[in-house]
Amino acid sequence: MVLALLLRAGLQLLVLPIYVLAYFGFWDPLCKTVFPYFMSKIAPRFNQKLYREKQQLFSGLPDFAGSSGQLSLLEIGAGSGANFQFYPPGCRVTCTDPNPNFKRYLLKSVAENQHLRFEGFVVASGEDLRPVPDGSVDVVVGTLVLCSVASVTAILREVLRVLRPGGAFYFMEHVAADRSSWSYFWQQICDPTWKYLGDGCSLIRETWKDLENTEFSELNLQHITAPMNCGLVRPHILGYAVK
Ligand SMILES: C[S@@+](CC[C@H](N)C(=O)[O-])C[C@H]1O[C@@H](n2cnc3c(N)ncnc32)[C@H](O)[C@@H]1O
Repeated sequence: MVLALLLRAGLQLLVLPIYVLAYFGFWDPLCKTVFPYFMSKIAPRFNQKLYREKQQLFSGLPDFAGSSGQLSLLEIGAGSGANFQFYPPGCRVTCTDPNPNFKRYLLKSVAENQHLRFEGFVVASGEDLRPVPDGSVDVVVGTLVLCSVASVTAILREVLRVLRPGGAFYFMEHVAADRSSWSYFWQQICDPTWKYLGDGCSLIRETWKDLENTEFSELNLQHITAPMNCGLVRPHILGYAVK
């Protein structure tokens, strides 16, 4: 316990300038400006490492197309549009993200994925999807988002609201490691600093519990160890939940 506190404080000391900038309110706007650039570089590498898993996961999307045969998909926290390549041809995609600085990277990805019908980018947090009517989409997608949001419960409530009955929420998230593991120990040490570096991203969310506690009619959830270089983000969950 004392060792953990010392290690955490030592790490915080190493990145003290960030804490100082955050204290004076400069870090958040800076991070919101540069984070999209870094994500646009990191996301293709992430896709490479988890290509098979993403391809397999999203291969089930056409099953949720509406009666017209078309699939309407809402992506929350879409970032730079890293998932577009995995969506089926003709899919109607609307994206939301609270950070408007992602738009230029997202539009680049739109241009590279002409097989989709892009319907727009809305600046909104997943906790408040007011522009999206009740029961209006077949599928909601969120990847590497629930680690960063203010309230996972509020997001999942909004996801349920906007999904049509029988629609599905597709997710892939890095999560907390097993509490008895060394990985979890290091996740706890690094978490406060990681939040600053990763624009609010937490390493120690047990997101599967929130999904289990939400009133979906069916939950297909798998725990995997992702082949990431950084051990802190290896534990992942992926799957889909049906409204
Ligand atoms: C690590 S990035 C992941 C981006 C993208 N989903 C991907 O897989 O590459 C986290 C994303 O969540 C977004 N985000 C942060 N807080 C959010 C919130 N409350 N609601 C929705 N998205 C949020 C960030 O702006 C960012 O685009």
